[in-house]
Amino acid sequence: MDDIDNYLSSHAAEFEDRLCALLKIPSIGADKSHHGDVRRAAEWVAAQFRDMGLVPEVIETSGQPLVYAQTEPVPGKPVVLVYGHYDVQPVEPLNEWVSPPFEPTKRSGNIYARGATDDKGQMITHLLSAAAWLKTRGKLPVQLKFVIEGEEEVGSKGIYDFLATPAAQEKLKCDIIVISDCSQYGPGQPAITYGLRGIVFFELRVTGPKQDLHSGTFGGAVTNPINAICKLLASLVDERGRVQVPGFYDDVLPLSEGERKQIAALPFTDDAFRKQVGVKALAGEEGFTTLERRWARPTFDVHGIWGGQQVSKTAIPARAGAKFSFRLVPNQDPQKITKATRAFLSDHQPPGVEVELIESHGAKAAVVPLNSPYVAAAQKAIEHGFGKAPVFMREGGSIPIVTNFRERLGVDTLLLGWGLDDDNTHSPNEKFCLADFHRGIKASAHLWNELGRCGAGVSPAVH
Ligand code: BES
Ligand code: MN
Ligand code: MN
Repeated sequence: MDDIDNYLSSHAAEFEDRLCALLKIPSIGADKSHHGDVRRAAEWVAAQFRDMGLVPEVIETSGQPLVYAQTEPVPGKPVVLVYGHYDVQPVEPLNEWVSPPFEPTKRSGNIYARGATDDKGQMITHLLSAAAWLKTRGKLPVQLKFVIEGEEEVGSKGIYDFLATPAAQEKLKCDIIVISDCSQYGPGQPAITYGLRGIVFFELRVTGPKQDLHSGTFGGAVTNPINAICKLLASLVDERGRVQVPGFYDDVLPLSEGERKQIAALPFTDDAFRKQVGVKALAGEEGFTTLERRWARPTFDVHGIWGGQQVSKTAIPARAGAKFSFRLVPNQDPQKITKATRAFLSDHQPPGVEVELIESHGAKAAVVPLNSPYVAAAQKAIEHGFGKAPVFMREGGSIPIVTNFRERLGVDTLLLGWGLDDDNTHSPNEKFCLADFHRGIKASAHLWNELGRCGAGVSPAVH
C-alpha cells in the first residue's frame, strides 16, 4: 500500500481544498430558501465522481436528489455500498459562530464550518480514497457503489421511497455497506459503532381562544395555551427520567450483563463528561450509567417551544407550539410509540384548548453484528489509518437509513466514524479535526484493500 499511502500524503493539501469547496455550499435541507444550494451540493458531488472518471447519475426523488456512481465490478470480491449525506443542519444561532458557517476556516488543527464533520467531511474521505486508488492503480480491489443523499437531516424520505422499488434494490445490491457519519470514542481512540438509537420526531400545536386576550380581564377563566403546552410536555416524563406514555418501555430490549460490563470497561468519567458539556450536574434515567443513558436507553427531549411575545405584555396567547422527539432503542417501534403518544396526549388534553400532534419522521434503532469478516477488515483498516485499534461502541444519534438498508437490501452496515463527540454537530462552530480527516482517508483506502481480501456474499441474507 506504499504507493497509495504516498499518494495520500502528497495530496493532503488538495484534499483540504476540495473539502473547503464543498463546505462553502450552504446546503441546508430544512430551509426552502436554500434548496437551490442543496442541489448545487449534489452537482458538486456528481462532478467529483466525473473527475474520478466515473459516470455519476443524479437521481430525482420526491425531495432532494441522490447522487449515484459505481466503479468496475470485481468478480468474486465484495460489492461495497458507500452512503453519506451532502445536506446539513441549519446554522442558527448565527451570532455564536466564531467564523461564518459557510466560510470554512482552519484554526488549531480543525476546520470549522457547518457540515465539516456531519457529514461532508466524513463522506468525502471515501470519495478521495477511491480517487487515490484509481489514480495510482487504475482500479479498485472491490466494486464500490456510492449513494449520497440530500435529506438525511430531515428524515431521508427520498432515499427511503427509492429503496422501496425493485429497480433500486437491484442497483444498490451489495455485500456490505459503509457509512462514516458518526464519531470515534475519543481523541486518539477510533471506534467501530455497532448500535445507533432510533427516533420519532413530532410537532405539537395547542390552540386556545380565537385571539390573544388581556390576561387581567380574561385570566382565570380560560386555559392559557402556553400553560397547557408546558404541562403536557412536562407530563411526558417523570422526575426519575421515565417516559410516562403507557407501553413506552414494553418492547425495549434490555442491555445484557455482558454488554453493560463492556460499556463499563471503556475509559469514562462522569466528571470529565460533565465539564465537556458545561453543566454542574448530569441527569437522566435512574439506574443507568451515563454511557448507557446516551447509547442504549430511550429519551424524551423538547427541541423548540414557542408562543406569545418576547416583550413584557400581559396577554393570554391564542396558540402555542413545540417540537419534541423520543430517541428509541432496539425493538421499539416508531409507529407504535407514535400511536401511544397520540393516545396519551388526548387523555391529558386540558379543557378549552385544541391539541394537535403532527408526526414528522421516525426511524428504528440499529444494531449491527460484529462477527463478520468485514468487521475484521474494518478493524485492520482503522489500525492502518489511525495507528490504533478501534474499540466497539454504540452511539445515541440516529441514521434512519441503516435499518432500512437492512430491511430492503438484507445487508448490514459498517459504521466507521471519524468525528469526535465535541465536534459541535447541529450546533454553532461545527468542526472536524484535519488530522482525523486525513486518517479517515487513509483508513478508507486501506478498507478497500482489506475488503478485497474477503470473499463476496458473507453478509447474512434477508431475515
Ligand atoms: N450524523 C448524524 C447521526 C449521528 C450523530 C450518529 C452522532 C451518531 C452520532 C445524523 O446526521 C443526524 O443528525 N441524524 C438525525 C436524524 C434525524 C433528523 C432523523 C439525528 O440523529 O437527530
Ligand atoms: Mn450525519
Ligand atoms: Mn446530523
